[in-house]
Amino acid sequence: MKFFIDTANLEEITEANDLGILDGVTTNPSLMAKENITGKDAIIKHYKDICHIVNGPVSAEVITTDYKGMIEEGTRLSDLHHNIVVKVPMTPEGIKAIRYFSENKIRTNCTLIFSAGQAILAAKAGATYVSPFVGRLDDISADGIGLIAQIRRIYDNYNFETQILAASVRHPMHIIDCAEIGADVMTGPLKAIMQLAHHPLTDSGLAKFLADFEKGNK
Ligand code: G3P
Repeated sequence: MKFFIDTANLEEITEANDLGILDGVTTNPSLMAKENITGKDAIIKHYKDICHIVNGPVSAEVITTDYKGMIEEGTRLSDLHHNIVVKVPMTPEGIKAIRYFSENKIRTNCTLIFSAGQAILAAKAGATYVSPFVGRLDDISADGIGLIAQIRRIYDNYNFETQILAASVRHPMHIIDCAEIGADVMTGPLKAIMQLAHHPLTDSGLAKFLADFEKGNK
């Protein structure tokens, strides 16, 4: 399973990249606003900065909602750097735009997926990635991880090439569940990725090894 980091924070992206396990980055307008990246020029510069840190796909979301606007904006974004993947919302206009991008060899990430039906449409339109939002479904007492499993079964039934990018991942168990199911990619915050490394028995075991070394080498 590929690991993407879901942030526009350059320090966190660098930290995850330095671990050597980072495969890509996802952003969205909310994450850009959280870093106070506002205005067209600043946003474009920020995408380029991210692309220079990470050697992998970087999702950049369109903020237009009509087909023509999405095509123009998405094409501009894709021209910024070869790492850019155009993130398009799951709407009828978005589906048409994904079809256009697919036919023009521009990679897409279909976002705001909350049902298997939406995932089928995104795959049929030729999306490179589909982003079901696990955490936001859990937030409303629905089964986010269950949706990942359902989409996995459907895509496998028909050999759809669209990759399942589990998004809105919030904690380490989401990551492990996605890996068990066979999500192609997960995108989550740095905190959830780092939490995977920790176990109390690792900490106490290491402390004992070091203490025993000290005792034997006095
Ligand atoms: O990739 C989508 C993600 O940014 C949404 O996460 O935590 O805002 O639901 P969250």
